[in-house]
Amino acid sequence: MNKIRPPRVTFNQLRTLEAVVRHGSVTRAAKELHLTQPTVSAQIQDLQLSLEVDLLEPIGRGIRPTEAAQLLRQAALDMFARWQLFEEDLQAVHGLERGTLRIAGVTTTEYFIAKWLSDYTVNHPGIEIELAVENRDAVVRYLTDDEIELAVMMMPPQHLLLETLPVMHNPLVLIGPIDHPWVHKNRLNRQVLNGAPLLMRERGSGTRLATEAYLDEHNLQADVRATLGSNEAIKHAVAAGLGLAIVSQHALANDPAKDGVAILAVAGFPIKRQWQLVWRKDRRLSLAARRFIEDVRSLY
Ligand code: PGA
Repeated sequence: MNKIRPPRVTFNQLRTLEAVVRHGSVTRAAKELHLTQPTVSAQIQDLQLSLEVDLLEPIGRGIRPTEAAQLLRQAALDMFARWQLFEEDLQAVHGLERGTLRIAGVTTTEYFIAKWLSDYTVNHPGIEIELAVENRDAVVRYLTDDEIELAVMMMPPQHLLLETLPVMHNPLVLIGPIDHPWVHKNRLNRQVLNGAPLLMRERGSGTRLATEAYLDEHNLQADVRATLGSNEAIKHAVAAGLGLAIVSQHALANDPAKDGVAILAVAGFPIKRQWQLVWRKDRRLSLAARRFIEDVRSLY
């Protein structure tokens, strides 16, 4: 027998409670919801009676949400999110796809993710896209905080339960300025990197992690000359002769000489890496995210 009992409260009451707790004020919540203050107070009062618990307590001249109110707000947010997924699914039953695709990619994915997304908008015109392009640390944070549903990255974090779909290869190459003496050399020994001037991406970058892992693995000590916050800044600095760098091959033009850089043939390069499309196993995905995964799966 199904033991689930319908809640004794209404969505309207929960929406009001959510706003009151978020603002910590009945007046501000009433303003946001375009309701009168007595209406908001009456809804909170009804909730308290239904649940037999205090939701607001007086503090000085104002009020403070109780612990029960905080818990109820979280439950309400979960229910609203679940309801939204239901509405999207319902529209899909009628052949109408609506919703928002919330996705993030590490910085190097900016060189190809737009193409994926433009194909996706053609196939799913009713779905809006919110794309964040940041370094690995920021993308992991968005995933942890549920600000996005999908992410494209090279090294998925260990602390989350994730589903992963390998997508493209992401070879990491060593680059130098176009007139560097190693340009016409063939397969130099990796020891040449000992003491070589190297430019690094900022802390939190996956490319930097991969670079450090490579140097550690081979016991190499590079001379880190500068830390730069983007692949573009790295390329400009390499072209200007500040040092060498390890970057994703996707960050380079088909002809790297156009950026004033050259790929150097040192043993062990390119470092073989791969991008993965990842999402949390312990979350129910929106229709928009499920469709995106289906589309990408059909490509790889
Ligand atoms: P990032 O990208 O260096 O911009 O963090 C790394 C990755 O491909 O995961």
